Amino acid sequence: MKLVMIGSGYVGLVSGACFADFGHTVICVDKDPSKIASLQAGEIPIYEPGLDHLVASGVAGGRLSFTTEIGEAVGGADAVFIAVGTPSRRGDGHADMVYVHAASREIAAALTGFTVVVNKSTVPVGTGDEVERIIREANPDADFAVVSNPEFLREGAAIDDFKRPDRVVIGGHDERALAVMREIYRPLALGRSPIIEMSRRGAELTKYAGNAFLATKITFINEMADLCEKVGADVQEIARGIGLDNRIGSKFLHAGPGYGGSCFPKDTLALLKTADDYDSPIRIVEAVVAINDRRKRAMGRKVIEAMGGDVRGKTIAVLGLAFKPNTDDMRDSPAIAIIQTLQDAGATVHAFDPKSMEQARGVLKDVIYCTDPYTAMDGADALVLATEWDEFRALDLGRVKTLLTQPVLVDLRNIYPRAVIEGHGLSYTGIGR
Ligand code: UDX
Repeated sequence: MKLVMIGSGYVGLVSGACFADFGHTVICVDKDPSKIASLQAGEIPIYEPGLDHLVASGVAGGRLSFTTEIGEAVGGADAVFIAVGTPSRRGDGHADMVYVHAASREIAAALTGFTVVVNKSTVPVGTGDEVERIIREANPDADFAVVSNPEFLREGAAIDDFKRPDRVVIGGHDERALAVMREIYRPLALGRSPIIEMSRRGAELTKYAGNAFLATKITFINEMADLCEKVGADVQEIARGIGLDNRIGSKFLHAGPGYGGSCFPKDTLALLKTADDYDSPIRIVEAVVAINDRRKRAMGRKVIEAMGGDVRGKTIAVLGLAFKPNTDDMRDSPAIAIIQTLQDAGATVHAFDPKSMEQARGVLKDVIYCTDPYTAMDGADALVLATEWDEFRALDLGRVKTLLTQPVLVDLRNIYPRAVIEGHGLSYTGIGR
């Protein structure tokens, strides 16, 4: 099939490269000429494990190309995917649809034969109707159908999530469009990934419901962690104890400093706005958003308490800045609020992250960025583990003890057992333990 991917960011580039790997011919479009130039030069502007090889093989096989011109790409395409950003609008948390609407108008002008227009971006319920209206207004004679096909990609695992999804969700009723979508995803149907079809609004809401539920599950275990600290239990035991119930499942029960990233914070807010618009409040998600926001600075205070309550003039080493491992993405990372809390309390922060320091420099000022974990902790009064990168899982604890001025370790991701840390003469503060 001939596919066009509009938007070459985390979702568009991964989806386009994976579709090309399925054997489809894909043109990835982006407004940003420098991004397209990088991609044409074989440079990948985002960090996603395995993406560089996948893009290179798609380009080498002549199945993947890049352009800034929607017009030349859309003509003759079987399907055009809208994978542009839907960031939270400044202030009110509504999803900003300006990029989706602009792409819709440009698609309308370029449509030739029957074409399926696919919303892959996470979009508020009803966007499919909106995109249909925009295209029909701009090009009344166009022969097209709009379907929803939300992505369920986790950053750092996006390629695997695309190629071995738990499910593919397609929302729409146009039979011709559904036939095209089944053909597009046929390589997956050979595996065990169910391809489910539903209404367009159902698919749009499924995406938000999924992310909001995952955010709720994380927030639940985070609050259980706080209770565990009070009653003297270990939240990891609770997580294992409830996770083995197959109605609950053991995933997303890792207590931590709160969720971040480009999806959960944005999608929970957008869902709440939709709920308000339709006068059907989702109070549990309102609570999740409030709890998670407060938690991040509370983690900064946890560090301050672990250091005796006053960090003025102290140096604190923070390992991990990205919102989770295997990504360079700093969007809504808990490390941002944690470090700002420590700086507000008068501490100097030394930081190291394997991938996201470039992005961090734009967000976190007055931080000393170090070249490796041990340089960061040399002479520091405490060590904070904020993101569970694999390379932090086997630190030389004897060296840690020697380098730290005060033997204080705060493990915000429960990477280490308490006994191992205390066995090296370091004090241990974890989450929910
Ligand atoms: C998420 C959804 O998982 C994905 O399906 C959707 O398409 C996009 O949003 P992503 O935001 O990339 O993916 O990361 P994810 O792995 O879901 O983690 C989100 C946040 O939750 C991270 O900050 C992570 O640290 C945190 N988290 C996750 C926990 O604190 N505990 C957990 O058990 C799992």
